[in-house]
Amino acid sequence: MKSKIHDYLEEVRAFSATETGQLEQFRLRFLSKKGILNELFEDFKVLPPSEKRETGMLLNQLKTLVQEKLDGSREKLEQQWMEGMLLPDLTLPATFMEPGSRHPLSVVRNEIIRIFAGLGFSVAEGPEIEDDWYNFSALNFPPDHPARDMQDTFFISKDPDILLRTHTSSVQVRVMEKQQPPIRAIFPGRVFRNEAISARAHCIFHQVEGLYIDRHVSFADLRQTLLFFAREMFGPETSIRLRPSYFPFTEPSAELDISCNICGGKGCNICKHTGWVEILGCGMVDPNVLQNCHIDPEIYTGYAFGMGIERITLLKYLIRDIRLYFENDLRFLRQFTAAF
Ligand code: DAH
Repeated sequence: MKSKIHDYLEEVRAFSATETGQLEQFRLRFLSKKGILNELFEDFKVLPPSEKRETGMLLNQLKTLVQEKLDGSREKLEQQWMEGMLLPDLTLPATFMEPGSRHPLSVVRNEIIRIFAGLGFSVAEGPEIEDDWYNFSALNFPPDHPARDMQDTFFISKDPDILLRTHTSSVQVRVMEKQQPPIRAIFPGRVFRNEAISARAHCIFHQVEGLYIDRHVSFADLRQTLLFFAREMFGPETSIRLRPSYFPFTEPSAELDISCNICGGKGCNICKHTGWVEILGCGMVDPNVLQNCHIDPEIYTGYAFGMGIERITLLKYLIRDIRLYFENDLRFLRQFTAAF
């Protein structure tokens, strides 16, 4: 019996498994009811007392070794599996994958793209890391102009000034530099400002910029385009109003309000009881900007606008805290599974 146990000890020491099936076979061979260990313990019972001591020790040694081998191999296989070294065991039940849904900001961005695509606007994108020229100088911000202070900028380096873009207006410049009019495009993207995070402000947010440059583009074209957009986005009863404003890159400049879509213009706490909510900035592209981008302002005119996607989404879905967009809380995100 002792030599038999020695053989088994050899076998167990030499054993290694490359898949869980082999491990299970090994377990059955040694540890099942009719397995080797039980059989040996049966034989052990009837040994003469003089042989029991030594054989018993060997038998226990075998038992411990089998268990150690089993545990060790299982751990090794699991680890290899985790590291993607082996194909997963295809006989195991699949882990459940919950169907995902679009993020509300993506839903609204896609809706904005759909509306403007219907008017013949194409989509372009630019880099999130910009230099001073594209974010400020080409857009008619003079070096020490106070307008630069309106935007708290994250600078990556000073001299040369490399920064995280504070608005998507930078993409206007990139597109105009490369392409002569007619230009009709929108530029969605992420922007960055050094703001304290609160329910109403975040240091990362999203904008969509619009640009239309051609011969004879007028403020009336801008107004009508924005009215169409507002009604597509917020419903056919929506009215708009333009208030004079200032941006260095547009002249004249305006801010666009829509009639409050929450209360229908009657007054509520979203519109601060005015009946109107601001949704974007816009204006006629300043001739200096056209010139900076090698477009002749004597021949061409154009309009531009820029809106925050977070704000449009807030008004559309009544989201009261901007931080919800970035927290990845499934209880929030799941509410948009029905949105396309
Ligand atoms: N860039 C402006 C901002 O971030 C938004 C804006 C205003 C864009 C007027 C425009 C515009 O194109 O014409 O606040």
